Amino acid sequence: MRTTGLRNGLLGIGGIFSITLLLKTAYDKIDPNLSWKPSIFMNDDAESFCRVSPAAPSLPNMRSGLVEIGFPQTDVIRHVPGFTIFDNLFMLNGTLFIVSDKPDDLPEIRMMTSTGYPLYHGEEEIRRREPTPHDMQIISSKAALELFGHTVTRLSGVTFLVNDPSQFATHYYHFVAEVLLSLWRAYTTLDLAITTTGQTSLPPPQRFIFPHIPYGEWSDGPGLDQYVVRSAFPSVAIEYEDDWLDRSATLRPFKYDRVVLADRAAAARCCGGDSAARYGTPVLTLPASQHWWAPIRNAVMDFSRLDRSKPADRPVITYISRQKTGHRMLKPADHEKLVKALRKLEKKGYEVIIANMESMTKEEQMRLTGRSNIIMGVHGNGLTSLIWMQPTPRTAVFEFFYPKGFTFDYQWTAHALNITHYGFWDSHYFTAPQLPPISYPEGFQGNEIPIDGDSVAALCEKILSGGI
Ligand SMILES: *[C@@H]1O[C@H](CO)[C@@H](O)[C@H](O)[C@H]1NC(C)=O
Ligand SMILES: *[C@@H]1O[C@H](CO)[C@@H](O)[C@H](O)[C@H]1NC(C)=O
Repeated sequence: MRTTGLRNGLLGIGGIFSITLLLKTAYDKIDPNLSWKPSIFMNDDAESFCRVSPAAPSLPNMRSGLVEIGFPQTDVIRHVPGFTIFDNLFMLNGTLFIVSDKPDDLPEIRMMTSTGYPLYHGEEEIRRREPTPHDMQIISSKAALELFGHTVTRLSGVTFLVNDPSQFATHYYHFVAEVLLSLWRAYTTLDLAITTTGQTSLPPPQRFIFPHIPYGEWSDGPGLDQYVVRSAFPSVAIEYEDDWLDRSATLRPFKYDRVVLADRAAAARCCGGDSAARYGTPVLTLPASQHWWAPIRNAVMDFSRLDRSKPADRPVITYISRQKTGHRMLKPADHEKLVKALRKLEKKGYEVIIANMESMTKEEQMRLTGRSNIIMGVHGNGLTSLIWMQPTPRTAVFEFFYPKGFTFDYQWTAHALNITHYGFWDSHYFTAPQLPPISYPEGFQGNEIPIDGDSVAALCEKILSGGI
């Protein structure tokens, strides 16, 4: 995949400034006018800069939320298409304002935000997502003084602003494995020293804002989105469309200390229609700690009462069965043979779990996937659980497809988390960089998907015994 090559290249070079140049080159393909020069990358010592406390020392220390004028200008401290981190972002009447006397140094607005209109195919649909002056504006400090008056109200801490419509928020994969994972990946570029155990200098977000999602529409069926957010960030406040409108209707200006803005439509403007590109693809090009996901993973596992202090006594192989879902299932006989082949591995000292996620509590699902070394199953939402696995060279995900079928979702997620992914077509398997093109052959969604249990079991053994 293009991003893989790009990222490896970047890490090899090491210099943050070169990264900027390379990024620029990479995105020139998408937008020849991208002229943004991120000021943070001018600093040679990126790491120490990144570790500056987010409660930036230059911020006035105010009571009652009011900031007197000379309020600071907006800094864009990170940006790739669809993901932008701002310090001192302003909001008035529902419009985000970047206050800057150097507008030429800023990314293009359409690469940062959109109208939040749902994503459908077609030219007219794409046009409707183009941001308007109601969504975001760049104004000078003089214009800001005229518009805001002499005081603005400060909203302290870190805000995760998700500008997406509810279209995707109702899906565990799309919200947790795409939006949250990518947002967090963007945010953690501010702490390159996150440890294996998830120690970070970054404060948790104080609030999520969903300006285009009404209360009640941000939920997958079983409530896993909520479970994850409430366990990863127990103190976080969540503001929905109505809250956004309430704040807007005060017609008073607000200043957010730090905002991590995610916008699916802006992200989609990147990568020149690269079919492997996902929402978070541009974000993966930014440098981060190898353990960037550990803070969330560990918080969710602790909340789920997985005892992480005890090393597992044997490797755990989990088959997430879809055979009771009635949709996209294995041939019944092949399912039986797979179970039999896996059971044989038990005698060789492995723990084997055949899981029907539908009949488990959320807590049980989390604990199980958090302690699994290999997770396998037919392509589908159940595989989203791979995000809770502890990434090691012996961690792997097997995804069963109807032969010749392939799509990137879980492969992308596994890649983002440095977990090895194997696609299976019956007895044949493949892994990156040898990936087939996206394809949905007849049978892809059906209930006659073949799998050769013996080949699957053999690959488990090979991986867990260190043969790969
Ligand atoms: C606030 O924004 C709305 C658009 O959402 C606009 O119709 C209205 O005129 C604005 N109010 C003021 C006072 O600018
Ligand atoms: C992926 O994990 C391996 C060890 O398992 C590590 O050496 C490598 O640096 C990791 N890659 C990234 C991009 O984090």
